[in-house]
Amino acid sequence: MSFTFGLIGYPIKHSLSPWIHEQFLNRTNQEGTYTIFEINPKDSFADELDKLRQRNLDGFNVTVPYKEEIIAYLDEVDAYAQKIGAVNTVLCKDGKWIGYNTDGLGYVRALEGKYPAITADKEKKILVLGAGGAAKGIYHALIESGYEHITVANRTLDKAIALTNQQEASKATTIEKAVEAITTFDIIIQTSSVGMKPNTNDVIIEFRELKQEVIVSDIVYQPLMTKMLQQASTLGANIHFGHTMLLYQAQYAYEIWTGIEPNMDELDEALQQVLEG
Ligand code: ATR
Repeated sequence: MSFTFGLIGYPIKHSLSPWIHEQFLNRTNQEGTYTIFEINPKDSFADELDKLRQRNLDGFNVTVPYKEEIIAYLDEVDAYAQKIGAVNTVLCKDGKWIGYNTDGLGYVRALEGKYPAITADKEKKILVLGAGGAAKGIYHALIESGYEHITVANRTLDKAIALTNQQEASKATTIEKAVEAITTFDIIIQTSSVGMKPNTNDVIIEFRELKQEVIVSDIVYQPLMTKMLQQASTLGANIHFGHTMLLYQAQYAYEIWTGIEPNMDELDEALQQVLEG
């Protein structure tokens, strides 16, 4: 059989997902295609989805700005995606569209794959910077993965409070308070777009000192070495690049669609080369 996958979102012309899924198809000896279906927010989303239905895809990814809006058009949503209120992967099976969210879980997979020894200890103290959509996915995936001490720091404290609401394993704080306590954290995860091209001189937090053996992770991958990661590296931190989240959320989606787990050997380095031109 030949698989047909795709991506909806806007703007997505430069998405790396087709490249990633082509690697997976090759690595798992499967035939298939992964096509970009850009949906302009000016067009009717319902009409565009009707057209998509007629294509009889096996599955598709959903990205900005449709991760929440898509839910109303699905036949089923898995419990985890429901909790987050956002879907990035749709499985089309027996005429039904079933929604999943692999973003946060993909992120945690990438982090644990890169630093297995440090992340084996679920009591490590984690700092999540930012409280937007990406933070939400990562935060819930960390809880789901069993981490017991998560602090969410955000410029707007109320958003961090709303995110951590009623979860015993976590608390909310401001970025300033997080800076004061920075040497208590074992894993620091930057989830906002601060530092992304063209604003590469921006940092969400200034590091003057860090705990020994800390992991500092940034989900921004353009550039891979953000200013925040540069500072962390200078202070001796273990650093973790943002493009791995992209790879592992895709790996997880591919597994949902095909039931096959692609081998990830050297894919991280290959994607780095694509990104660096
Ligand atoms: P996404 O859905 O991609 O995560 P978002 O919902 O716009 O994006 O969230 C952006 C996050 O980055 C928010 O936590 C935002 O902080 P506020 O809630 O205070 O707006 C944070 N953020 C964006 N720019 C920032 C900046 N210059 N300094 C600090 N935090 C910033």
